Amino acid sequence: MTRTLRDLALFGGAPLATTPLHVGAPNIGDRQRLHELLDDALDRRWLTNDGPFVQAFERRVADLVEVEHCVATSSATTGLMLLAACLGLRGEVVLPALTFVATPHAMRWQGLSPVFADVDRATLTLSPASAAAACSSETSAVLGVHLWGTPCDVDGLTRLTAERSCALVFDAAHALGSIAGGRPVGSSGEAEVFSFHATKLCNAFEGGAVATNDARLAAALAEARNFGFAGEDEISGLGINAKMSEVSAAMGLVSLDALDHFVHAHRTNHEHYRVGLAGGRGVTLRDPDSRATPTRPYVVIEVEDEAGLSRDELLAVLRAENVLARRYFFPGCHRVPPYRDDPRSSPVPLPVTEQVLDRVLVLPTGTATSTPAIDRICEVVRCALEHPDEVRAQLATVAR
Ligand SMILES: Cc1ncc(COP(=O)(O)O)c(C=O)c1O
Repeated sequence: MTRTLRDLALFGGAPLATTPLHVGAPNIGDRQRLHELLDDALDRRWLTNDGPFVQAFERRVADLVEVEHCVATSSATTGLMLLAACLGLRGEVVLPALTFVATPHAMRWQGLSPVFADVDRATLTLSPASAAAACSSETSAVLGVHLWGTPCDVDGLTRLTAERSCALVFDAAHALGSIAGGRPVGSSGEAEVFSFHATKLCNAFEGGAVATNDARLAAALAEARNFGFAGEDEISGLGINAKMSEVSAAMGLVSLDALDHFVHAHRTNHEHYRVGLAGGRGVTLRDPDSRATPTRPYVVIEVEDEAGLSRDELLAVLRAENVLARRYFFPGCHRVPPYRDDPRSSPVPLPVTEQVLDRVLVLPTGTATSTPAIDRICEVVRCALEHPDEVRAQLATVAR
């Protein structure tokens, strides 16, 4: 069925979804298995503090991403904070402005100064050239972000940090299952930090995992996440509570069991969006290299300048349909407090970041989004972009 303007919810048609379609609706594995694992934890009365599920989860993640050590944490944010602390970072950390605000916040919470650099236009990950320009004598680390599952230019960033003798770490929150240089993301730099938050491809309700091949770093992280305990009565230094609970680890294990199923759903959805949006005017689906991003964790479109509708107008059309698309990561880390008020945090121009922040929309995917719903979302997008003047006039009427 081809949608006409009158079918759009904005013009009085029935919304395409009766209940809201959210970006990041959780992927959920085998409930029965989860209930069994929770019963096991309750029977054991071992609910947290490096329990058997946390240990199993750490082994599974380490094997999956092909590293020697994995330290599970309460979130990726606490994982990044612990990593900065255990590496002894000081002064400034160079990172992309195009990321979730947790990335700079984790550094700032450690007393570090985040310094933003621009991203590469093709991958939307930290540009080594821009990062080099943002480095100063105060820089102690470069923090790359594998945005939306697309791996950074690991070789370029490795060269840069080797030349400057500073640390290299990665925010791999989006990148479980991504491939960099023929290897799973997880083993580059000093360490890489994954998120198992509910919105991620694989979730543990809340959770994080620091992957590294450095045994001493892993030991320091494991102590630091547990108040600094190095033995029953021995404190090795400053620590915090950033432990993963057994409930989260159980969910993480069940999610990892279902990873292939989740990936299949994400890939199928991405293909439906690709076909559904093909040939439509004014909108481009980001289609990263499938060898590097085989998991297709996010569906990201860019609304072109010549689309006739702005990104925000298209967002309003979709919201009327109960499709809750998101402007990740608008307005940009450099434009929010505390960073926007600190000129030292933005020493280099960010033209690509700013262009992308004004054009990008993230659309629903994952196991909670059906392919017929995706086909209808694509029809709505195409229909709206074929009639930009009428849509804009209607948006103005509705706003009055
Ligand atoms: C790029 C990025 N980094 C870090 C985080 C923080 O992850 P968590 O919620 O596990 O702390 C997120 C969360 O969405 C993210 O998108």
